[in-house]
Amino acid sequence: MATKLAALVVLVAFLAGPAACEGTYICFNGWLRLPSILDKLLCPRGSGTRREPVPSPSGSGLSYGYYSTSCPSAEKIVKEAVKKAVDENPGIGAGLVRLFFHDCFVRGCDASVLLNTTNSNNETEREGLPNMNSLRGFEVIDEAKTAIEAACNNTVSCADIVAFAARDASYFLSNGSINIPMPGGRYDGRESFASETDQLPGPFSNVAELNASFAAKGFTLDEMVTLSGAHTIGRARCMFFSSRFSEMNQTYAANLRAECSNNGDTNVNQDSVTSNVLDKQYYQNVIDNKVLFTSDAVLNSTETRTQVIDNADKPGEWERKFEKAMEKMGKIKGDQQGLEIRKVCWRVNNVGQY
Ligand code: HEM
Repeated sequence: MATKLAALVVLVAFLAGPAACEGTYICFNGWLRLPSILDKLLCPRGSGTRREPVPSPSGSGLSYGYYSTSCPSAEKIVKEAVKKAVDENPGIGAGLVRLFFHDCFVRGCDASVLLNTTNSNNETEREGLPNMNSLRGFEVIDEAKTAIEAACNNTVSCADIVAFAARDASYFLSNGSINIPMPGGRYDGRESFASETDQLPGPFSNVAELNASFAAKGFTLDEMVTLSGAHTIGRARCMFFSSRFSEMNQTYAANLRAECSNNGDTNVNQDSVTSNVLDKQYYQNVIDNKVLFTSDAVLNSTETRTQVIDNADKPGEWERKFEKAMEKMGKIKGDQQGLEIRKVCWRVNNVGQY
């Protein structure tokens, strides 16, 4: 009953658009704003995540240069595909960094985020609220996979391609300043459920909720702050921040209001200063109150303020921490990994059997 009611409210909140949500409260693991009374009713604190946390990063079975004998050209092929895409549109690089995060946080890094809907499963992760009409970069993964299959078939997993692509996008978008050591050896999963994307932190989350969400995947509070720095690239839709214009730096908010012009689907740059560069500018933006989401702005809280100032001030500090945290992200394991090397990244092998 509560689930049905929640679904109805979610639908209404979305159909009503951001204006209807002014002055409202937050729910569904921070992905939706609901009137406070409904929030209290439907979303007692901590209820956003239905599944038990998956095991924390272990990384067993992964190694660096994993394909150096079995498919020596694999990592080079991915790098070239990413370079071409980022040169054409840096936003796709941002999409690839996010794709990796959204893959690894749900069922571990198993490329479950890439699976298209099928007759038997019309609700894969791609249809989940955080992903639908939002994730991008799929075509780069497909292009790399096609070239890799031609060079050495049935050898390189889609999950590894996603991880290498995030590493390479980070490298190119940081102009070579960020070089993530990324092992290979992941396998592709065979299951993907939209409902499980509620494990991803939402833009209306406070520090405690962000901390809980990252801790469930084995990350510390400092690593959460470090990874949030990825919001120095890419774009975001107005529906996720138009309720908090009054809380932002007012010059910044005025520009955003004009860009959004009451359309929740409009995209704006996450970092208005160095929009296409993966750098520590995000932390200065947090300090200056020139960030989009509640989940960005709350990093000014006492628990995380020191890390924000350090990351903003100390050259190289954030970059090294980001490399380590992204490598760690690549080691998140789900409980059902190690199943196959997909032939095509958006569907499981032997699909006819299912
Ligand atoms: C801390 C909790 C986080 C929250 C609440 C959050 C939420 C969001 C939201 C709502 C968007 C905009 C989506 C849209 O408008 O369609 C976004 C974009 C983005 N996020 Fe996060 N995110 C978080 C952490 C991360 C992490 C850990 C990474 C990567 C390491 C990341 C990378 C990105 C990137 C690169 C974009 C822009 C994507 C693009 O332009 O295609 N985010 N995030």
